[in-house]
Amino acid sequence: MGLVRIGIIGTGHVGSHVASGLLSRGVGDELILLDSDRPKAERQAQDLADAAAFAARPVRIRAGDYQDLQTADLVVVCASGPLFKADRLEELADNLAIMRQVAAGLNALDYRGLLLAITNPCDVLAWFLAQQTRARVIGTGTLLDSARFRSALARQTGVAPQHIQAYCLGEHGDSQVLAWSAVSLMGLPLAHLAEQWPARFGRLDRVAITRQVVKAGWDIVQGKGSTEFGIGAATAELAQALLGDEQRILPCSVPLTGQYGQTSVFASLPCLLGRQGVEAIVPLPLSAAETSALAASCQRLRHYQQQCG
Ligand code: LAC
Repeated sequence: MGLVRIGIIGTGHVGSHVASGLLSRGVGDELILLDSDRPKAERQAQDLADAAAFAARPVRIRAGDYQDLQTADLVVVCASGPLFKADRLEELADNLAIMRQVAAGLNALDYRGLLLAITNPCDVLAWFLAQQTRARVIGTGTLLDSARFRSALARQTGVAPQHIQAYCLGEHGDSQVLAWSAVSLMGLPLAHLAEQWPARFGRLDRVAITRQVVKAGWDIVQGKGSTEFGIGAATAELAQALLGDEQRILPCSVPLTGQYGQTSVFASLPCLLGRQGVEAIVPLPLSAAETSALAASCQRLRHYQQQCG
């Protein structure tokens, strides 16, 4: 297998932590950093190259421009405006203008490789990039939300998050659906555990957990101005699953093709991921209420998709 080249468009808080996450996992042989502020991209590359000296395997890191992405295996798009909003969908106008520039840069190359879309509103802008370019677009979607869901369940049950399977579905945002009926811990359904050990598993504060998960990003942004570590690690995991052909199931934002009756929308469902991208969308068994909430989330996203013009 030849050198694996990853382009990162946007080298602010998120882009730099995506690069750091890739370094720590040893994903990629060359990271190419693009930013409208070229001196900043060069300094980030220099700083990350210092970190690369401690990495498990050699990685080349440099600032570049769109021409350098001609042979990229993966492009990560995280360029964003400075304003974060409580409702991520309200960031659409500012970030759509940036995505138009990104699409133009990628189209000049006729880029047709994998593209991970992070910039919020993630699902809507992933849809936009999929419409405007020939890249194989996947949004990071609710991968991070699902990790937050697992961590919240871990805090309330004492089970390590690594042994909890829990998915958030739909929008990476306020309308996301926590799929409680599909939660399993240590390989056993939550409902079964709640029946067997009601004290430990039968009294979870679902309202508190839902609020913690849905508002986690905004809570962090209000306190420190952005999120970075979580999304950086989540994106690195997604990149590793794709480029490493890991055949893993992870929640991410993809074009729905009829799952739960939903089409013409990018939204998050569990997906089987490999070197070619999304190999299958894996519908979970959901309750009627969860299916209805997912339909509402998709409808909300389609409404904003229509504003992309
Ligand atoms: C968050 C950003 C990535 O939820 O939307 O941290």
